[in-house]
Amino acid sequence: MTLTTDPVALNDWYPVAGLGAAPGRTLLLGQEIEIDGAAVRRTDTGAALATREKWGLLFASFGAPEREIFDMAEAAEPDRRFVPCGWFTLRASPLRIVENFLDMAHFPFVHTGILGDEPHTEVPEYRSEIRRDVDEVWATNCTFFQSQIAATESAGDFVQLSYRVPTPFSVVLYRVCPSAPDRLDAIALLMQPMTEVLTRAIPLMWLVDDRSSHTELVRFEQVIFLQDKIIVENQRPLRLPLEPRAEIPTRADGSSIAYRRWLKEKGLRFGTTAGAPLAGTA
Ligand SMILES: [Fe+2]
Repeated sequence: MTLTTDPVALNDWYPVAGLGAAPGRTLLLGQEIEIDGAAVRRTDTGAALATREKWGLLFASFGAPEREIFDMAEAAEPDRRFVPCGWFTLRASPLRIVENFLDMAHFPFVHTGILGDEPHTEVPEYRSEIRRDVDEVWATNCTFFQSQIAATESAGDFVQLSYRVPTPFSVVLYRVCPSAPDRLDAIALLMQPMTEVLTRAIPLMWLVDDRSSHTELVRFEQVIFLQDKIIVENQRPLRLPLEPRAEIPTRADGSSIAYRRWLKEKGLRFGTTAGAPLAGTA
């Protein structure tokens, strides 16, 4: 296991631990690192990584990122509930996890009775784009029939969603808040790419919800994420292909096409089929 040589992956920020976590070792971009308090070092050379602290997490980078960690405007709103959901480990490329998060078409089949239900399987037309001014991918004007929507709701309804991809390895969902329709709940999924095909992910939520208990909110997200884990771990090839796909795109693929095009423009190789061959696997 060695550190990737991909400069795009090296020059980005990744969450590696909760603040105040016990000292320990983990993997980042194929390299073993040691975390001790607010310090992060390579275990092979002892070299220190650049670090930042944000949203209760310790972030690290092997390189010199041009940009700081992206902002979440919702984090500054004092009446929000901030709900970190805990780490999940998935045997999947972080890019596959982002793409699955963007995909609404799987809701009725994977999250049956929660985020969707047959026969409500159609993905209405939405807009997807690479926003050049901020260098992010967005999918907007998304609507979908969901059976439960949020921890506060028991009846099904059409939800209004927007998706934002602020970095290749993170993704945010904005959802019109069921209990305050003039505001948006924000759910971010941050990734620690351990290797090209092994990822630790942590969902962070900033919600307008004064009714649900913390446990209810975390459990709602955990159920959904464990359903997604099964799906992303079974996708092949393990790494994300960036070549334009042969099949005719459908509307539901729009955000996926924009995301892959954006990654290809950046020249990202880590976690894609353009990377070095994987030892002993797909
Ligand atoms: Fe899902």
